[in-house]
Amino acid sequence: MKTLEYLLLGSAAAFPAGAMAAELNLICSADVVICEKLVSEFETSHPEIDVNMVRLSSGEAYAKVRAEARNPQTDLWWGGTGDPHLQAAHDGLSTQYKSPMLDELQDWARGQAETSDYHTVGVYSGALGWGFNTEIFADKGIEAPQCWADLLDPALKGEIQIADPNSSGTAYTTLATLVQIMGEDEAFDYLKKMHANVSQYTKSGSAPVKAAARGETGLGIVFQHDAVAQAVEGFPIEVGSPCEGTGYEIGSMSLIDGAQNEEEAKIFYDWVLTPEVQNMMPDAGSYQIPSNAAATPPKEAPDLTALKLIDYDFAQYGSAERRKELLARWDEEVGSLPLQ
Ligand code: G6P
Repeated sequence: MKTLEYLLLGSAAAFPAGAMAAELNLICSADVVICEKLVSEFETSHPEIDVNMVRLSSGEAYAKVRAEARNPQTDLWWGGTGDPHLQAAHDGLSTQYKSPMLDELQDWARGQAETSDYHTVGVYSGALGWGFNTEIFADKGIEAPQCWADLLDPALKGEIQIADPNSSGTAYTTLATLVQIMGEDEAFDYLKKMHANVSQYTKSGSAPVKAAARGETGLGIVFQHDAVAQAVEGFPIEVGSPCEGTGYEIGSMSLIDGAQNEEEAKIFYDWVLTPEVQNMMPDAGSYQIPSNAAATPPKEAPDLTALKLIDYDFAQYGSAERRKELLARWDEEVGSLPLQ
């Protein structure tokens, strides 16, 4: 007891009334380098707010927010693919917020807000594809894949990595993209065949191309900007964009329902949508297309208008029913297969 009294007195002395530091509990679902940069820039411009940040893949972030529903420990969830943000909106885990910044955003980013009745908003976008290690491909005499169909080439046995769609939004986007291009049964047949070439299903979406950059695998199925990031670092990575067409993400942000630090969360929310902040992303090796129309798309970013993008149905594939159904089928038919 004595110790407790002492500690309480001690902490009261350390934080005189009115001087308690404000806090913000943030989940960040993009690459850890951009997550850390955003936190340090925010704390520099808002020294009165301490940010506690945890980096989690999109599906893991959704699971955490869901597990905390009765007693939210998270205030704001920034980044990661849009589908689990839409599912969180549908499940009432996030709350409505109409940021004064909405009018400055690209149509696709505002569209994400409209689809979710303003429970989530687009922060960046990027197209799916792959990155492959040109040295490994040359050494093994493997031809550069042009199409999704080429990833079934037996020459790629053991050379492909992709994330697990339960944890990773990148991998869920891949699953939903293949279903939209091929039809559901055909997409699962394809994934079961491709499994013969897969050496590992990683937790995080960008891990496969980082492994390819280090020469641990030949090819990683990832967002193209994640492959670009490795090439910019100087690794022998070439970016591929599938000939049949490809899906894309609307990286999103959601204010958590019942957030303990809602005011601080709104300050970060508005700040991170400004062009000044979005223009910092390439400094942290993040080459997505920014959502503020006045921000400058990085010169390294794949030009989405030049790619063969599918008309990705965000409302359907971000719906709780569809996401649950596809993940359950993936677990049963693909995730359960033994790795070679
Ligand atoms: C990378 C990409 C982001 C994407 C995120 C999804 O960080 O750069 O654009 O939103 O992956 O991560 P996940 O681990 O959920 O696939």
